[in-house]
Amino acid sequence: MTGVEPSAEMNAPGKDRAVRAMFAEIAPSYDRLNHLLSVNIDRRWRRFTVARLRDVLSRPGAIALDLCCGTGDLTLELAAHARVVGCDFCHPMLLIGRAKVADGARSRAALAEGDALLLPFADGRFDAVTVAFGLRNLESVERGLAEILRVLKPGGRAAVLEFSRPVLPIFRQAFEFYFHRILPRVGALISGSGGAYSYLPASVRAFPGQARLVEIMRATGFAEVRYHNLSGGIAALHLGERA
Ligand SMILES: C[S@@+](CC[C@H](N)C(=O)[O-])C[C@H]1O[C@@H](n2cnc3c(N)ncnc32)[C@H](O)[C@@H]1O
Repeated sequence: MTGVEPSAEMNAPGKDRAVRAMFAEIAPSYDRLNHLLSVNIDRRWRRFTVARLRDVLSRPGAIALDLCCGTGDLTLELAAHARVVGCDFCHPMLLIGRAKVADGARSRAALAEGDALLLPFADGRFDAVTVAFGLRNLESVERGLAEILRVLKPGGRAAVLEFSRPVLPIFRQAFEFYFHRILPRVGALISGSGGAYSYLPASVRAFPGQARLVEIMRATGFAEVRYHNLSGGIAALHLGERA
């Protein structure tokens, strides 16, 4: 294990290669650690995300894109409601996802290898586009959002689920102690990657907070941008429409 650690800065040049190597390294322990370190709250956040998309997913023939799908947990939640394509540029993460998707009843999901900044899909293809814990990792947040907007149908909806800023000061302090002191140690111990679980809190710190992300989405061209704080703002779900 190499302990790869990409730059935590937003929009750092060359970040994509380091990010892909980091996820390739932690892929085997990714699911287990996700659920352990979040005490399973991540599952609830993904279900909340899908619930905010129900109306667009129930359109006749609806199809969704789950960007930066990783091992496919959100892809599979979406597949319960519509056809869905999961897309990620890290092959080892996709291999684990493919084994989960191959599981019979979930055949409405397909996984494709691709770069979120250069999506291999035509304009206006999807009713919904989701990205869970992925936007923060892109080499350019703005270009990633522009690609999402491009592949959405007019009237389609984007859902960005990402770590954010806990709202209440005392809760924020307690959470930051856990996130910056405990999580990197447990993550390194279990995944064997020194870098990945230090990168996580550092990249969340560098990522825009709730209100700033609303501004960036509006500037990209999304309409009706709004957000929901999840678990007191540990995470936030931003929604926006393509007019
Ligand atoms: C933290 S994981 C999130 C996985 C999944 N969405 C989830 O909720 O568990 C971030 C994923 O984003 C992917 N990723 C990062 N940059 C990407 C890019 N430019 N194109 C495609 N995938 C990317 C990584 O390979 C990784 O699988």
